[in-house]
Amino acid sequence: MAKDITFTCTACNASTTKWSGRCDSCEAWNTIEEVKPLTGGPKSKKAMGGGRGKQINLTDLATLEPEPPRTLSGVGELDRTLGGGLVKASAILVGGDPGIGKSTLLLQAAARFARNGLKVLYISGEESASQVQMRARRLGLTESPVKLASETNLRDILTTLEAEKPDFVIIDSIQTMWLDTVEAAPGSVSQVRSAAHELTTFAKQNGIAVVLVGHVTKEGTIAGPRVVEHMVDTVLYFEGERGHQFRILRAVKNRFGPADEIGVFEMTGKGLAEVKNPSAMFLSERGDPAPGSVVFAGIEGSRPMLCEFQALVSPSPHSQPRRTVVGWDGSRLAMILAVLESRAGVPFTGLDVYLNVAGGLRVSEPAADLAVAAALISAREDAALPKDCVVFGELSLSGGLRAAPQTENRLKEASKLGFTSAITPVRAKRGGDSGVSMREMRDLHSFVEQVFGER
Ligand code: TYD
Ligand code: MG
Repeated sequence: MAKDITFTCTACNASTTKWSGRCDSCEAWNTIEEVKPLTGGPKSKKAMGGGRGKQINLTDLATLEPEPPRTLSGVGELDRTLGGGLVKASAILVGGDPGIGKSTLLLQAAARFARNGLKVLYISGEESASQVQMRARRLGLTESPVKLASETNLRDILTTLEAEKPDFVIIDSIQTMWLDTVEAAPGSVSQVRSAAHELTTFAKQNGIAVVLVGHVTKEGTIAGPRVVEHMVDTVLYFEGERGHQFRILRAVKNRFGPADEIGVFEMTGKGLAEVKNPSAMFLSERGDPAPGSVVFAGIEGSRPMLCEFQALVSPSPHSQPRRTVVGWDGSRLAMILAVLESRAGVPFTGLDVYLNVAGGLRVSEPAADLAVAAALISAREDAALPKDCVVFGELSLSGGLRAAPQTENRLKEASKLGFTSAITPVRAKRGGDSGVSMREMRDLHSFVEQVFGER
């Protein structure tokens, strides 16, 4: 019973388990008072118990904190994806498939930031310093004052960081780092988590911006970047199809800028090059109008981006027809096939369906629904849409069409690339004139009728 009651000194805040006339800590008289426990919950070892904590300072929303300082790399696609440059004392995770180009991207970024005045350290746990130097030579970056190290022991790395005091550190990759206090093997969930925790805490305390590279892994004992996503300020994924030269850097979480922002790069013989006009690039290999090909006017992050959806529909030899998707969501395709069948009377039973986004792009916007539906019907009917036409709009399960955000921006981009017409949902609001003629559709049924004729 006596154990549950705690006494504190009102003068110096020291706590004791028994009352006395004089405080042992500050030697003041008559200052010891009894305090009631904070919560009346169970008194197990794991509960907080009765002890009081320190009172924390509260502030209000109006208090102005200065904006964190940012540094630009000069690579527009990278700076935009970071939310407007690299923030001091921040932690960034860059995830991606092995071999997609993470090390290449970060070595190039390191060189740019170093040239812009930051003290940059590149620590590789996968390659030797000479391998990194070889890559730097190939990329023409040997002049940049980036410091290299090949190391995996986190204790040594932190000691080095403390002595060197860099502004920007790249850890390639977090899965190779290990702490001597954790018994598990490098790459295991507990090692990856602890290493990421140590590095991010150290970086924040010392004003260092740190990038953790993480390989995306198939389910297994090796931990993927997902286990550290919550610990960092910014999560970027580097995506692309192995066979294509395009690479997309996508911000999926950003405490310092908009998420969903993307940067587009091209893998060349001399490293990654910025793609300033991705729409033109993604449509560059488009030939004459073909059945199943539809241009979608999309929005990625803050900017419009045109890309081509390609569909192929053929009689299936299997009892269970195939549904294959590259660059789009498979379950969303199933939904659109179902809506087409029940609301517009276009069945796909007994037909194999293949859907692909040209150029290795991944589209996740719901506004692509109508473009996908158009590609599917066009492939099924063997009828091509006009060459100069873009399509966008979200489809509801009732077969209705919903207006997509940023219609004006989509139309402007389409117009810039020489498109003259757009098939869109009916919208209430009208903006400026983009020079693109709009064919507005109320629902999927009227879309099928008007575009592909009476059935
Ligand atoms: P890398 O950056 O090592 O990938 P990650 O770190 O994500 O595992 O990139 C490896 C691939 O990039 C490799 O297959 C070769 C290609 N590459 C080029 O095409 N051009 C280049 O200039 C460089 C350095 C790499
Ligand atoms: Mg690598």
